Amino acid sequence: MASVELLNVRKSYGPVAVIHDLDLTVADGEFLALVGPSGCGKSTLLRMIAGLEDITGGEVRIDDKTVNTVDPKGRNVAMVFQNYALYPHMTVRDNISLNLRLSRLPRAEIEARVRTAAELLDIGSLLDRRPSQLSGGQRQRVAMGRAIVRNPAVFLFDEPLSNLDAKLRVQMRTEIKAFHTKVATTSIYVTHDQIEAMTLADRIVVMNAGRIEQVGTPIELYQSPSNIFVAGFIGSPAMNILQGELLSTDGGLAVSAIGSQLTTLAAAAGAAGQHVKVGIRPEHLTLAGPGEVNRVSATIAHVEPTGAQTHLLVDAAGQMLTVVLNDIASVKRGDAVELSVRPDRIYLFDDATGQRLGAL
Ligand SMILES: Nc1ncnc2c1ncn2[C@@H]1O[C@H](COP(=O)(O)OP(=O)(O)OP(=O)(O)O)[C@@H](O)[C@H]1O
Ligand SMILES: [Mg+2]
Repeated sequence: MASVELLNVRKSYGPVAVIHDLDLTVADGEFLALVGPSGCGKSTLLRMIAGLEDITGGEVRIDDKTVNTVDPKGRNVAMVFQNYALYPHMTVRDNISLNLRLSRLPRAEIEARVRTAAELLDIGSLLDRRPSQLSGGQRQRVAMGRAIVRNPAVFLFDEPLSNLDAKLRVQMRTEIKAFHTKVATTSIYVTHDQIEAMTLADRIVVMNAGRIEQVGTPIELYQSPSNIFVAGFIGSPAMNILQGELLSTDGGLAVSAIGSQLTTLAAAAGAAGQHVKVGIRPEHLTLAGPGEVNRVSATIAHVEPTGAQTHLLVDAAGQMLTVVLNDIASVKRGDAVELSVRPDRIYLFDDATGQRLGAL
């Protein structure tokens, strides 16, 4: 087991910089998820930690040792790829044991490790098959098995479940979580799936264009995004972002949005007249009960029942808002509704920088 540290790490392909002065520390035994839009540098970062890619500047440390010039074999990390990268002409047993055989481990030791991994992953009966004779989920297990038998200090996962169907993903996700609980090997896990990141990770790193936007526990990122990028990226459906303005009122600084329909005390910092972006999560908009203040009148433009929830797209004074209601809602397109939101659930961001303004 080992910690992983990136100090001022940079990566350029020719003149194009894709990772900019990035600092990150992954604690020993931690499960870290890496998320961000396509092309932001997630795979590049993993490959630099694995040693599959040179770094242009900075330092990569594994287990308190600088590994910049150490080749992938010497880093004691194992990577699991999206496309499994299994050898089609080899049996499952040979695929799993390949690296161990190359490093000339004794036969009995190899057999013991393969048996343990196969039991853990429930693929003991598949060891004599070839990859073409396996389902997608079984292939993914073999790819995991190949990583596990090496007893690496660090696991690197690059979207390992994205080729699986929804049900299998959930099952494999649970198994990866159970496996990490058992072995507690430091893991860095790239995913496009928010639920995967939220449920698996101790901490999540949100990347954007080669930089880290925020690092925090899943709940921290959801509850306290430090800027508008993280606010819009974490949470599904995405947070509604509206234009607003700060006003001075008797009670203090308020925010006004949606043609002044929404005027509520919400800001702790800022100046009257300041333009802001107002963030409201779809699940924090509710149908207003009688007597509730902070009401916003809207017309339903679209209804999407998902069973457990009802997603609405509503038009509030020309601004489209997404609303998530729990349960099945008896509303239809064209209905007029009144919405409300608790003031402490309104997020404010600086209009120019996108940084979060102090909460109430
Ligand atoms: N060998 C290369 N030569 C030039 N540019 C590259 C090379 N590999 C990656 N890039 C660029 O580096 C950037 C980061 O790529 P990377 O594969 O790390 O993104 P990613 O976050 O993993 O994206 P995705 O979510 O689509 O997998 C992209 O703009 C990509 O085009
Ligand atoms: Mg990638």
